[in-house]
Amino acid sequence: MPTPSTAPDRYALVGHPVAHSRSPLIHQLFAMQTGEDLTYELIDSPPDQFETDVRGFAAGGGRGVNVTVPHKEAAFELCNTLGEEAQAAGAVNTISFSAAGLHGDNTDGVGFIRDLTLNQECAIVAKRVLILGAGGAARGIIGPILAENPSALIIANRTLKRAERLRQELNSPEKLTVCRFSELETADGFDLVINATSAGLKGEQPPFPRQLIRNQTFCYDLAYSLKPTPFVTWATACGASRAVQGWGMLVEQAAESFAIWRGKRPDTRPILEKLTDLTA
Ligand code: ATR
Repeated sequence: MPTPSTAPDRYALVGHPVAHSRSPLIHQLFAMQTGEDLTYELIDSPPDQFETDVRGFAAGGGRGVNVTVPHKEAAFELCNTLGEEAQAAGAVNTISFSAAGLHGDNTDGVGFIRDLTLNQECAIVAKRVLILGAGGAARGIIGPILAENPSALIIANRTLKRAERLRQELNSPEKLTVCRFSELETADGFDLVINATSAGLKGEQPPFPRQLIRNQTFCYDLAYSLKPTPFVTWATACGASRAVQGWGMLVEQAAESFAIWRGKRPDTRPILEKLTDLTA
């Protein structure tokens, strides 16, 4: 009689680049906390390899993957079925494999809102909010931000067409406008400015006008690094009231993915404390 397999269930992060990612550490800490037996790998996958790499990991016995820059929109196209948030966002960051195929979810929005409102204690209601960037990362957070009822939401992107397409896909909500970075020079101040570009991953800082940061502006970088990110450094130099990296969102979205895969939501607080020690 064949002995039943006792190998741990396999998960992975698929992105390009991924070497900097702390997701394996976070999922290992979740697994230890909840008593789940799993491994979490990194798969560096350039755009033309994405589908092959995801299908290959599934065929090799993988149970699911997280998806990061620049594949979140490609992951949306790849999935056979979609959760509500992924459907609304047009982007997927969590794929679960089953006999029925690939199921896509998006946990970025809930992860972002949880970190901003619970961990950072920053409410969105009645605030003027700016998102810099209109790619997969931005897509995940737009619907959840609108649901918190800001007074206005502006999306500025290097490529205006991409932001315009995004607005149309979302049925052009009244509170949502789009523009180029240069148009922000004459815009009123913002309460919350979110960097959703991937420029910092390449060590770049796009030419955002300084005027958009006021002394009451809270700045949030969806990216994270052991050192201050280029956006956090820039926002601090511009006089932002606070400028934080996306460590909290990383942990919260990971906890949501873990819950989808394993049916148990880990307690994020001790993990956030461990990561704070790493970056202190
Ligand atoms: P993600 O899934 O992380 O959002 P993406 O879909 O590749 O990754 O989107 C990257 C975002 O960062 C886009 O808004 C991109 O702007 P374009 O739509 O004009 O390409 C933005 N971005 C990347 N590098 C940038 C740079 N150097 N300057 C300004 N914006 C940049």
